[in-house]
Amino acid sequence: MHGIQKIINDLCDQLNYHNIRYYVHDDPSISDSEYDKLLRELQKLESEHPHLVKADSPTQRVGAFPLAEFGSITHRIPMLSLSNAMDAEEIEQFHEQTQKGLGVKKIRYVAEPKLDGLAVELVYENGVFISGSTRGNGEVGEDITHNLKTIKAIPLKLQDGHKIPSLLEVRGEVFISHKDFKSMNEKRLENGEQPFANPRNSAAGSLRQLNPTITATRPLRIFCYAPGTIEGVKFKSQKDFLDTLPKWGFPVNPLIEIGFGVSFLKKYYIHTEEIRNNLDYDIDGVVFKVNSFSHQDELGMRSRSPRWAIAGKLKAQQVTTTILNIEASVGRTGAVTPVAKLHPVNVGGVIVSNATLHNQDEIDRKDVRIGDSVLIQRAGDVIPEVVKVILDKRPKGTHPYKLPEYCPVCNHQVRRAEDEAVARCQNMACPAQIKGRIQHFISKNCMDIDGFGEKLVDQLVEKGHVMSVADIFKITHDQLASLERMGDKSATNVITAIDAAKSTTFARFIHALGIRNVGEHSSKVLQQAFSGSLEKLSNATVKDLTRIYEIGDVMAQCVVDFFADPTNLHLIQSCLDSGISFEKVEKIQASGITGKIFVFTGSLLKFSRKEAHVMVEKLGARASGSVSKKTDYVVAGPGAGSKLDNANLLDIDVLTEEEFLKMMKELESK
Ligand code: IVH
Repeated sequence: MHGIQKIINDLCDQLNYHNIRYYVHDDPSISDSEYDKLLRELQKLESEHPHLVKADSPTQRVGAFPLAEFGSITHRIPMLSLSNAMDAEEIEQFHEQTQKGLGVKKIRYVAEPKLDGLAVELVYENGVFISGSTRGNGEVGEDITHNLKTIKAIPLKLQDGHKIPSLLEVRGEVFISHKDFKSMNEKRLENGEQPFANPRNSAAGSLRQLNPTITATRPLRIFCYAPGTIEGVKFKSQKDFLDTLPKWGFPVNPLIEIGFGVSFLKKYYIHTEEIRNNLDYDIDGVVFKVNSFSHQDELGMRSRSPRWAIAGKLKAQQVTTTILNIEASVGRTGAVTPVAKLHPVNVGGVIVSNATLHNQDEIDRKDVRIGDSVLIQRAGDVIPEVVKVILDKRPKGTHPYKLPEYCPVCNHQVRRAEDEAVARCQNMACPAQIKGRIQHFISKNCMDIDGFGEKLVDQLVEKGHVMSVADIFKITHDQLASLERMGDKSATNVITAIDAAKSTTFARFIHALGIRNVGEHSSKVLQQAFSGSLEKLSNATVKDLTRIYEIGDVMAQCVVDFFADPTNLHLIQSCLDSGISFEKVEKIQASGITGKIFVFTGSLLKFSRKEAHVMVEKLGARASGSVSKKTDYVVAGPGAGSKLDNANLLDIDVLTEEEFLKMMKELESK
């Protein structure tokens, strides 16, 4: 094989492997930036050798042109719906009917969460992804192949963990997690775009984009749960099928269980109800399926739904209440967000008294007014929101709501840029903005200063002790001790925490500054690109910045604008003068051992353990203290004991110190 082709194949395999670790096993072994480095390496090679690009290359996920309209795909087997059980009693009835239908007492079921996303069908011929479609009317769906290809959790080629069928149809639910939904909407707001109403709508909208490039930017995920037509491989049961899916590279919901009888079903139903609000995605019920495929065939179908399965509906997470008031809250970027103050209601076990109204456009679209009865919904940790107004119940004398023209906190002007949905308070010195900036600065993913609660920030700003993030480092023990609910000891603790946070990383500090559009990940990208030098970053031009992979025009402009402002430069200088220092940045190089895990054992004679760790980390690999299935290499010096035994048991590559050094040398010289 051509040498370059081998490297390309290798990179494809590595990337596909890491994809599956991330999406199927939820156990990534390399960081996002390491993944991106490998991807870039592949992109570079492919652009130099276009004839060597493979159809299942991870670079081929986006690339299709926008469509004028979707084609249609007829499902070989119709995609049915499920009948519903509204409570435990109806679940009992389902079980009794199943027993009767089969003439069997003891029945094994598979219980699955019922995801509230969009059902899709994926078709593979001889292991290669050929086409994918929406459910449509059950018989015919829309051809959304190009959009599905952009979803990294969907394998473009089946892994060979199980025999590859000549034809395989897999059904599953595409969805967006709460966490991703939240950050996606934050980004949209920052960019002045309309936020999406809820995860399901945004997943639906993303799948039905005619331009796959847009779909590719949306954080879509999938869990697979049902077979369509399968030729060439036989399955006995749903469990059998579900166990095989991950071997081919499909993600399967880890909460799926198998068990016997109605007591199992009821237990699962109650338990799911309890954990529902802790899940990072929306579910609207559970699905119970008779496990055995021959039993399923025996029970057969009704006209639209099978007799062998039922959906157990969970209580609605939507309730009605009234809006007592609408308040405008001001965030760290000055964004003025309207918040509905509600007559408190219980939504799925949580008392809700606030709901976001997003922005003026959303208020106008829904015509939300003070005094209105509204339908609200909450989903996990997504902020509760108003779905719609119940117009029949609108009291007399209400008025359309308009956001204030002056900031409710500092009374300065609020302005909305022409192309933005968000209105902002224009006063950088607004106390709400200062508090927001400080809270962001000290938060876990930024400077991570312990013991610094919201109340403390409020007091420090209100007393005028802290007006900028740089002032945090000037707080005195006496100032702290004189505040409400602060004793001598807690004041000392806060000072110690501030001091400790001074030795940090460049990336944390950049993220903490709150430059618009620069989040945690981008800060790490900037750290690598500018080798942790503030001077280099502050002198960078838009052109310099956009040359960096993952830094787009908008972000580049925000960075340049930030450093062009003398106030910001002054702020940074003041932080540095207080003794902030950055750890040295180790250049990560993508290499043949990116993401691999090394364990060092025995007495090492040629290098210290610390030196060994630095060597592998520089090449994008990791060092770990214990040997497990995940270990890739064990480097054993004299006197190695149980770790070496384990490595041999698990069939892990064992290297001597000399072999290890040779490997490092070869990789470094590449
Ligand atoms: S099985 C006949 N399993 O529910 C088998 N469906 O009402 C039907 N859904 O269109 C599909 N999670 O969108 C199945 N674990 C799961 C599911 C699930 C969600 C949705 C799917 C389907 C609808 C049926």
